[in-house]
Amino acid sequence: MRIVEDPADLADPALTGCGFVPTMGALHAGHGSLVERARRDGRPVVVSIFVNPTQFGPNEDYARYPRTLDADRALLEPLGADAIFVPSVEAMYPEGLEASRAVAAALPLPEVGTRPGLEDRCRPGHFGGVALVVGRLFDMVRPAAAYFGEKDYQQLRLIEDMVAADPARFGALRIVPCPTIRETTGLAMSSRNRYLAGAEREQALALARALQVAHSAQRVETAERLMRETLESHGLEVEYAAVRDARTLLPVTGFERPTRALIAARLGATRLIDNAPMTVWR
Ligand code: PAJ
Repeated sequence: MRIVEDPADLADPALTGCGFVPTMGALHAGHGSLVERARRDGRPVVVSIFVNPTQFGPNEDYARYPRTLDADRALLEPLGADAIFVPSVEAMYPEGLEASRAVAAALPLPEVGTRPGLEDRCRPGHFGGVALVVGRLFDMVRPAAAYFGEKDYQQLRLIEDMVAADPARFGALRIVPCPTIRETTGLAMSSRNRYLAGAEREQALALARALQVAHSAQRVETAERLMRETLESHGLEVEYAAVRDARTLLPVTGFERPTRALIAARLGATRLIDNAPMTVWR
């Protein structure tokens, strides 16, 4: 498994037409499942690790985001990844950070990244930074397929629509959605779970529980109320608890078409998100 720092070194015949897994490191079994899926698809596998400054807000956790390259290597090696791409901030943002933040802020985004009022509302500027870095990573790695977790469902939908909107740039790149991997308790795996202190891990189970409780509700308002009540009764501060159209992430009035329940909640200084499909009732 090669460690590649210089983007120029990605131009290696052994890595052409690869399956690509972009990450910010602090890897866990959720990331591992994306790598396994990419391996199964039979292409060389490239994993990027880059804690992307432009997608963090001024009051977010960029500085304290866990950086664990040695452990990340140890997790990836047995999964059969061919290369880890660890670009520097200078390689990703040659124009400088200040200027790149302006570029991110001015990027035209697909509607699913601006209209729903979910992550786009709670983390203004976040998707501009995600779209900027993922676009540049795709340009450098030139993958045939790229793997994204449903854990970050609005991000997944954003990347799907971004790629579909620009075939001249992204060609036949296939975006492959991968299911959310959970602890046996139901807690969705996340690099940010390591911020949780003992009792908070227990409280954090409220997210998965809320999604379970809401899953078969027959009315949208009922599902949303049940999720909010579950989160609040466990001491979490709700940012949103919503049932939305699974494709557009816009509000719905019923369950005739595929919908998704999506949650963001705060537990002390930690912000957690989770989501799940709802039952279709006809
Ligand atoms: P990161 O949070 O490191 O996640 C990298 C990928 O792993 C994303 O596609 C995410 O959805 C997926 N993932 C995280 N937890 C998961 C879980 N429990 N089950 C399945 N997949 C999971 O998302 C980012 O990094 C960044 O925004 C990035 C796309 C790399 C751009 O900087």
